Amino acid sequence: MSQFPPVETTVYSYECDAFGHLNQAAYLQVFERARWEILARGPGADLFDRNGVWPAVRRATVDYLLPAMPGDVLSVDAEVERLGSTSLELRQRAVRARDGKLLAELHIVFVTVDKEGKPKPLPAEIASIFAPRQSRVGELVRHGVGDVSLTAEVRGDGPALLLIHGFPLDHSLWAHQIATLKGWRRIAPDLRGCGDAQGPENAYSMATYADDLARLLDKLQVNRAVVAGLSMGGYIAFELLRRHRDRVHGLILVDTRADADTAEGRASRETMMELARKEGPGAVGERMLPRLLGRTTQRTQPHLVPQVKQMAARWSVPGVVGALTAMRDRPDSTPLLQTIDVPALVVVGQEDELTPPDLSRAMTAAIPSAAMTTIAAAGHLAPLEAPSAVSRLMAEFLEAVPRP
Ligand code: MLT
Repeated sequence: MSQFPPVETTVYSYECDAFGHLNQAAYLQVFERARWEILARGPGADLFDRNGVWPAVRRATVDYLLPAMPGDVLSVDAEVERLGSTSLELRQRAVRARDGKLLAELHIVFVTVDKEGKPKPLPAEIASIFAPRQSRVGELVRHGVGDVSLTAEVRGDGPALLLIHGFPLDHSLWAHQIATLKGWRRIAPDLRGCGDAQGPENAYSMATYADDLARLLDKLQVNRAVVAGLSMGGYIAFELLRRHRDRVHGLILVDTRADADTAEGRASRETMMELARKEGPGAVGERMLPRLLGRTTQRTQPHLVPQVKQMAARWSVPGVVGALTAMRDRPDSTPLLQTIDVPALVVVGQEDELTPPDLSRAMTAAIPSAAMTTIAAAGHLAPLEAPSAVSRLMAEFLEAVPRP
């Protein structure tokens, strides 16, 4: 939905209570002041007046997450969540400017009324300003989903296809599929902690990633999507099935596995976390590179090496440590496989060393509806290494998926 750029406002001591926190009544005023400021900078503070209606508050709920103190500068945005025929739902977030921490969130419902207080249909000008943004050609959208904002590339129209990248990669892993899978609304987010998404500390698990994506689908007004996940993206797809099964309309598992980490695998996550803390996300990408790209790709497509390094460099340190923690602690998804009752496609690079083809064979055998294809001369990043082959396979699979 439409999102308006944040405005900044300072907390003054006279607004605070005996404990020195911004008090409750003042908080509502801060949100209200920011709303009017956003209107004044955008469509004009007289937007409602000039259209002969008034936005009357029907309900307001504030979640107070952390205290705001005198001198704090708050960055407050506003996002339209829903437009009714006579109503408007808005979410506003107050983020502390110095460290990006979310302090409070307001959910507020307005009814547009006339001078007598009778509900009036939203005038066309107001509806068009607050209407959902269309994504006909492809755009980067950014949405608040709980305690973070996620950026996603969204392209095309049609039923939704959610493309979840692996670690330590970003949404551009799917560039070919985003560009070519016409007839589908391709939604490729950067996961929390990656790219220009914020990277909070200690807030990562497969459940958190899955909930972020379910909220992102809400924001994009998507009920159900075919979910494609590569490697860690596959672990997240399994978690979406566990937590939000009704949102998953089909499944594409690429270079991934269902089992949990072994003791040895868990220990190597700790080593990687140490590396990330000491030398940064780039060093983790560098260490993993020889096993991310297949040996043929490394020889024949050396230009992909810097591309993968760039993706790794876009992660924040908390994001890398968080992803490694989430992968280390992820549950075994093997028992889930036999319960999968949506169309499923399993794709694996023949030279994938991180999640070798045998694992994909076992997964495919366990999923009642699954078919599997191996991609020759590709490693762990098949959609990037053999983009046309993977896109063609996905297109054929999507063709056969019943429309939601
Ligand atoms: C990935 O590609 O997402 C990771 O390599 C998966 C993993 O390390 O388990």
